[in-house]
Amino acid sequence: MSAFIVVGAQWGDEGKGKMTDYLAEKAEVIVRFQGGNNAGHTVEVGDKQYKLHLVPSGILYGNKLNVIGNGVVVDPKALFDELDYLEGLGVKVTPENFIVSDRAQLIMPYHKTLDALKEKARGKNDIGTTGKGIGPAYTDKVERSGLRVCDLMHIEVFREKLSENIKAKNEIITKVYGGEALDFEAIYNDYVKYAERLRPFVRDISVRVYDEIKAGKKVLFEGAQGMLLDIDYGTYPYVTSSNTIAGGVCTGAGIGPTMITNAVGIAKAYTTRVGKGPFPTELNDEMGEWIRQKGHEYGVTTGRARRCGWLDLVILKSTARICGLTSFVVTKIDTLAGLDKIKVCVGYKFEDKVIDYFPASLEDLAECEPVYEEFDGWDESVGNARSYEELPENAKKYLKRIEEFTGVKISIISVGPRRDQTIEVGSI
Ligand code: GDP
Ligand code: IMO
Ligand code: MG
Repeated sequence: MSAFIVVGAQWGDEGKGKMTDYLAEKAEVIVRFQGGNNAGHTVEVGDKQYKLHLVPSGILYGNKLNVIGNGVVVDPKALFDELDYLEGLGVKVTPENFIVSDRAQLIMPYHKTLDALKEKARGKNDIGTTGKGIGPAYTDKVERSGLRVCDLMHIEVFREKLSENIKAKNEIITKVYGGEALDFEAIYNDYVKYAERLRPFVRDISVRVYDEIKAGKKVLFEGAQGMLLDIDYGTYPYVTSSNTIAGGVCTGAGIGPTMITNAVGIAKAYTTRVGKGPFPTELNDEMGEWIRQKGHEYGVTTGRARRCGWLDLVILKSTARICGLTSFVVTKIDTLAGLDKIKVCVGYKFEDKVIDYFPASLEDLAECEPVYEEFDGWDESVGNARSYEELPENAKKYLKRIEEFTGVKISIISVGPRRDQTIEVGSI
């Protein structure tokens, strides 16, 4: 196991931050390969809690190399705010333990303005984005007008491209959306300052990550969001604008598929989603509220209440296939403790048959009716278990069903937010 991926198996917030931090102990290099500061990853070590958005969750060890890949969209202001936040908590960030791709796209103030204006224009069909400028930044990347970190390193080139971009964006902001034009000089002056602070961290990360793998170092690729927020395989258009699936590593970190040995899917023991879009097993009732309160299901980035529902094995099976998962990590089984009965979706009734894959069309998905199996619940002792044997029998049955349905083994069970509340049951 020299290069492995941690990927969200549902709609994000599965506990990737906790598990990346936990698994980072076994790695020397931790790489973010997509998304931006729309992500919110929580790591708890002892009595300290850290909330990370852009910096990889391996940063807390101090002696590991943390990498922001070219597939990430970087808001320099958000990045420096996060570095200051980490420094305030006693975490040292230097070019020895943190580097940023010269090919990463920059999130600019007009991306955030456009994110807000486009959402407003969508009216009742809004996506419920995080408002961080993610979609507009990736749009510019694909449209080939994006500004990259390497442009910022050549400030005259940056000035010229920024000037062109601001002219074009102001036309759209004012004429299409009736918004206020942005001021070129103010933005330029801010980015000149960011450029100097960023410079020591900028590298060709594909070269560095490749060399690390070749040298026999273990590299962990930390996914953001989750499979169903993927731009291709998610619940389009209610998705984020990047490839969140395991395949995103190849394009987002410049690493060939043959170099990756394992892909671990992080799955919450139930399902949550933030923002709009379909959610077949959603519980719009007291049960959903119970899970939300017990699991503290509120967004790390936006503070929004997360929608909650039963575990959906159709989703996990689809993630296993699309991401080529070698194992699952199941988190938050402690949250479900105390329930008498727990339901699990094992198929969708669709046009007189039961299907076990996730349909592309939202219209077809709306027709799908979850087919449930019911399990007996378990008690709070689950949170204190530190070995598989100590888990309640009913929790074991629940976990076995996940393996059986998806055909993928569980390697780790998480029974609480802290590092030590983790049970290893197999290889990843
Ligand atoms: P991420 O975006 O996938 O990193 O997940 P978030 O950090 O947004 O949300 C997961 C939340 O669950 C965080 O508050 C974690 O501290 C917490 N968490 C992770 N694993 C467990 C677990 O096994 N049990 C409990 N109770 N909380 C967990
Ligand atoms: P982590 O890494 C959960 C959701 C937003 C919205 C949609 C598009 O913490 O799991 P965007 O701002 O990306 O254009 O919003 O994607 N979303 C997330 N939901 N966890 C995340 O990240 C998310 N990042 C984006 O709520 O529905
Ligand atoms: Mg999160």
